Amino acid sequence: MAATTRRPADDPRSGSGGSEPGRARGVAGTAARVHRRLVVNRSRLGHRIGYALRHPGRILPHLRRAGRDAWLRRKYPDHVSYYSAVMASDVRRSPEAAVGSANRERWLALGKMQYDYLVGHGLKSHHRMLEIGCGNLRAGRLFIAHLDPGHYHGIDISPDILLHAHRTVAEYDLRDKLPHLSLTRDLKLEFLPSDHFDVVHAHSVFSHSPIEVIDECLAHVGRVLKPEGFFDFTFDRTEGEEHQVLREDFYYRTETLVALARRHGLHARFMDDWEKLPHKQSKIRVSRSPEPRLS
Ligand SMILES: C[S@@+](CC[C@H](N)C(=O)[O-])C[C@H]1O[C@@H](n2cnc3c(N)ncnc32)[C@H](O)[C@@H]1O
Repeated sequence: MAATTRRPADDPRSGSGGSEPGRARGVAGTAARVHRRLVVNRSRLGHRIGYALRHPGRILPHLRRAGRDAWLRRKYPDHVSYYSAVMASDVRRSPEAAVGSANRERWLALGKMQYDYLVGHGLKSHHRMLEIGCGNLRAGRLFIAHLDPGHYHGIDISPDILLHAHRTVAEYDLRDKLPHLSLTRDLKLEFLPSDHFDVVHAHSVFSHSPIEVIDECLAHVGRVLKPEGFFDFTFDRTEGEEHQVLREDFYYRTETLVALARRHGLHARFMDDWEKLPHKQSKIRVSRSPEPRLS
């Protein structure tokens, strides 16, 4: 039985196609539909039955996914190992789909959307960037091309997707940019220097993360950020009950994440301009300074 009414724009696992560039959220439906999407609890049985009745074609794929995930959860009780195993399974099917794009065209478009947004917010070639959950460099390839050699650092928990990140570097002839690509098991960022990055970026990572993982990241990201730098992350927003589906998709209230950032001494703000883009996740910017500014 399908458990979700909608999938994030860059999450493939439901096979529903979601909402990608060209299908803007405002165009997709009325304010009432947007409101329903924001308050629905996808883990509730009533919702799941209703969804299955409305989308019978999605029942079988969802059952397959639920079965696989149940088996992986038993085998890998901790979240990072579990999610890394989910990624390994998805990457075998398709690396584009594993990071949430139904095909190459959408992979390119989602990467460009992330890139354009940060360049619009002042990302220049001399800046240093850390991308958490870099995947197969859907956006990373554009950041790497834009930044000076050695200024991009991507980290990910999935060795399988990082091998595809290497392929992206070769395919787009980015070798001379010397990007750093590191495997990590946690978000303590211990191996990275202090006061170093102008921009830290995590797109569609916290949408797959339990609160402990986000907490760990927010506890440590301030150390690696420059005083005027910022950390942008997307998340699946709910204005109703916080919930998760299959330990793959997590829905948080904005105030939960803002409060968490504040507990770690960081400033946080909801990025309204991101909401205008054709992407169903929302974005929060956290920073050490109340008014972060790239220079
Ligand atoms: C949906 S993909 C998005 C990849 C990339 N940010 C993009 O937009 O193309 C999520 C990525 O985050 C990685 N990931 C998930 N949890 C993570 C964590 N706790 N730390 C680092 N990477 C993580 C996954 O392995 C996967 O590559």
